Parts: sequence; C-alpha cells; structure tokens
Amino acid sequence: MSVNVDPKPTRNTGVLPFYRFLAKHPRDPVAAFEEVGAQAGGRIVQLNMGPFRPYLVTHPDHVQHVLRNNQPNYVREGMFWDPLVPLLGDGILSDGEHWQESRRVLQPLFTAKYVESLADRMAEIITEQIDAVVRPGEPFDVVDGISAIVHPTIVRLFFGDRISSGDIARLIPAYEVAVTATWPRLLMPFVPNSVPLPGDRAFRRSIDTINTVVYPRVHEARRTATEGKDVVSAICRARADDLGERGDRRIRDDMVSMHGASTETSATALTWVWVALDAYPDLAERIYKELDEVVGTEPVRPSHLPELRYLKMFLSELVRLYPPGWILPRKAVETDEIDGVTIKAGSTVMISPYLTHRIEEFWDRPEEFDPERFAPERERDRERRHRWSYFPFGGGPHKCLGQHLFMMEAQLLMASLLSRYRPVITATRPVRPRLASSLRPNQKVKLTLVERNRT
Ligand code: HEM
Repeated sequence: MSVNVDPKPTRNTGVLPFYRFLAKHPRDPVAAFEEVGAQAGGRIVQLNMGPFRPYLVTHPDHVQHVLRNNQPNYVREGMFWDPLVPLLGDGILSDGEHWQESRRVLQPLFTAKYVESLADRMAEIITEQIDAVVRPGEPFDVVDGISAIVHPTIVRLFFGDRISSGDIARLIPAYEVAVTATWPRLLMPFVPNSVPLPGDRAFRRSIDTINTVVYPRVHEARRTATEGKDVVSAICRARADDLGERGDRRIRDDMVSMHGASTETSATALTWVWVALDAYPDLAERIYKELDEVVGTEPVRPSHLPELRYLKMFLSELVRLYPPGWILPRKAVETDEIDGVTIKAGSTVMISPYLTHRIEEFWDRPEEFDPERFAPERERDRERRHRWSYFPFGGGPHKCLGQHLFMMEAQLLMASLLSRYRPVITATRPVRPRLASSLRPNQKVKLTLVERNRT
C-alpha cells in the first residue's frame, strides 16, 4: 500500500488525505482511521479533511506534551466539543475556571476509598438488573442488554432513590440519541453549528428529555441533601453556597456530564467483552476457571474482586484495543511547537488512545488480544513501557475520575453474568468498531446466555 504524503516545511510532519482513506473503506471509517495512524507511524501529521486540517498526535512523548506538560494550552473547545455544549454545559467536561471548580468538587467523591464504599450497593443493583434483563436461553442484544444493566446501575448510584424506573427508562434512549446523533458533525467538523445537519433535531429533543428528568432531581436533592450517600446529594452539600438558578445549572451540568462520561464509556467497553470472549475461547476458558475457583456458586461479592486477577488483566487489555474514548480532541490556545512541529494557535489537535495503543514501537504484536501484557509478574515490562503509551482513561489534569468505578463495575458485572451463564454469540460478519463519539460495534451483536449447570 502506498499513499502520498505531501512534504511540509516543518520537521516531522506531513498531510494525509483523510477522505481518500475514507473512500477506500466506505463501510469502515475506523479502518480509514487505522490506516492513517499506521501511515503516521508516531509522527505528527495533519489530516486533510477539506477545509479542516487537524493535527493527529499519537507518539507517547507528544501525547504527554499535550495532555500534561503544556496542558493549559490545549483546551476542550473547538469543532468537536462545541456541538456538545448544549448537552454538557459548563462543568466537569468543559475547561478553564468552571472545569477547575467542578474538578475540585467532584474529585473527592471518586477516590478509591469512596468507590469501595459503594461496592456492596453496586453489587446488589447489578444482580437486580441482571435478573430483570436476562432471559436465559433467549437472544440477548448486547448493546441494548448491557446498556439496560449499566445505565440504571450508574443512575441509581448517582441519584440514589430519588429517581423512578420510569425516568431511568426515559433517560437511557435520550442519552443513546445524544451520543450518536452528533456523528455527522464528527465526520464534517468544519460545518458551522448554525448550518443544520441530520441528527440535530433528535439531539435537541434528547437534551429536553434529559433536562426534564434531571432538573427536578437536582431541586429535590437541594431541598433534602443532608445525609444521602448518592452522588447528587454529595455534590449539593459541596455546592451548598452556590444557590439559585446558576447553582442548579452547575449541578445539572456536572450530573449530566458525569452520566454521559460514565454510562456510554462503560457500556461500550462492556459490549466488546463479548466479542473478545467469542474470538478467543481459550482466554474465555481461563476466565470461567478463575470464576469457578473464586466465586463458585455464591453470589458475587466485592470481596471476591481482588482474587479475580485474570479478569482484571482481560479488562485492561480490552480497553487497550477498544478504548471507548477513542479520540480526545483539543484546541491549541497559543501557537506551540511539539518536537519541531509548529502547532498554530486555534488549530485542532487530535489525540487517540486507539492509535497510540497500536504503535508497534511500543507494543509487541499490537493487534493481538493478549491479557498477559498486564500480568502482575510482568510488572517490569510495564515499568519499561512508555508511561503515555497506554492511556485508556486519559491523563494529566483531565484524567478520568471514574477509573476505579469502572473497574469495579466491570468486574462485578462480568463475574455476576459469567458465574451464572455461558454466552453463545451470533454475529453475521466480523464485528468492527464504528465511528461515534465512543467506540461502538458496527453491527448488532446478539448472544444467548445459557444457564450453567452449577451442581
Ligand atoms: C471504560 C470506562 C471509561 C473510560 C474508558 C473513560 C475514559 C475517559 C477519558 C479518556 C477521559 C479523558 C477525557 C479527556 O481528556 O478529554 C475521561 C474523563 C472523565 N471520565 Fe471517564 N472513562 C470511563 C468511565 C468513567 C466513569 C465510570 C466515570 C464516572 C464518574 C467517568 C467520569 C469521567 C469524568 C468526570 C471525566 C472528566 C475529568 C476531567 O476532565 O476533569 N468515566 N474518561
């Protein structure tokens, strides 16, 4: 395969014709993106997307520069973020002063200790949801089914008993639309927001639904938040001085942003689990064996989790190959230079864990799904690995707040399902990622959960 890379005056860069790659893979835009990454080979390149020419930054040194060393210069604004402002508002997923304030309020809520204190409740909710959603022996749509377990779990942790099942059922499709309806803007980020695109109306309707559900919960939590262990009560206590409409709006923005950041990413990651289990039966067997030894026929308890070592390695590898936050766009505030390449003020920089996790210089056999990379006995390999060659949860000041929560939720959910059922997958063609704001499968993945004989 040979592609022309136009030489550019600055060192270490080139321009890659993104739409030409896209035309080559009309049904698989992610393959086009992978090819771009392979061509870039860790160099900073510009992607020619018509009038829009973002810089693609994949080398771990360069990623570190953008996300940590010179982070204040690379803000979450610009063509990718702006369309999401009506949904996310001005809180933890924004930048600058408001983000800093939200981070100060939210960070103490997501320490390992606090998350562990939620474990028993989370285990209970997950079991209830599995009982409600799984019909043994009947087809189970992975995207819908996992979402139907993950969303209520997170919503109940966030809102406690303040939210009804009916409202949860309204929120799930609204978020689904909100994160998928903006994909045309992702592919054509140069189209101004004032020009309508398909999906815009559905996006606005989904925000109305979300606001109709979330605001009353915020108002109620403000009135009664004294003891509640749920997240909205804790935020209300932390923002007790920030009253009135503005204060309500800030709490709404953080709740909605966190909901978006947590459910979509977790559900997406947990969708790929089944694809990987199906593709690698020998690895699946290891997970089943570990679950038999550690959990057996008991209900899964948080105390089992530290013993589920292989499951944890499997999940770490899963988010290497399928990081749900596959692209992290930034806007350069001032002109900067990265490794000899000039990044002009106002330009877009795209960081991609998906591509960095596949660079051969840093990963042996990068395309191979191999949980052994994360084996505790290979600690020394990890120490030698570049710190920024693996960042499924981002890094620097914007690092994900929910990493512990996700690991706990994923282990509890997988252990609870797989200690009771064996999955049999039916997919008509190879499952590939598709382009959306998170890395979802390109087709419906159906499976049947067959009850295990647990004598
Ligand atoms: C598989 C699961 C998850 C993945 C892969 C993931 C990934 C990420 C990534 C890559 C970022 C950085 C975004 C950026 O730099 O622009 C991030 C930020 C964030 N994540 Fe997660 N996340 C996951 C689950 C969660 C969960 C369960 C929560 C629940 C609280 C959460 C809350 C957040 C928040 C609040 C931020 C923004 C932090 C800030 O900017 O200060 N995430 N996440």
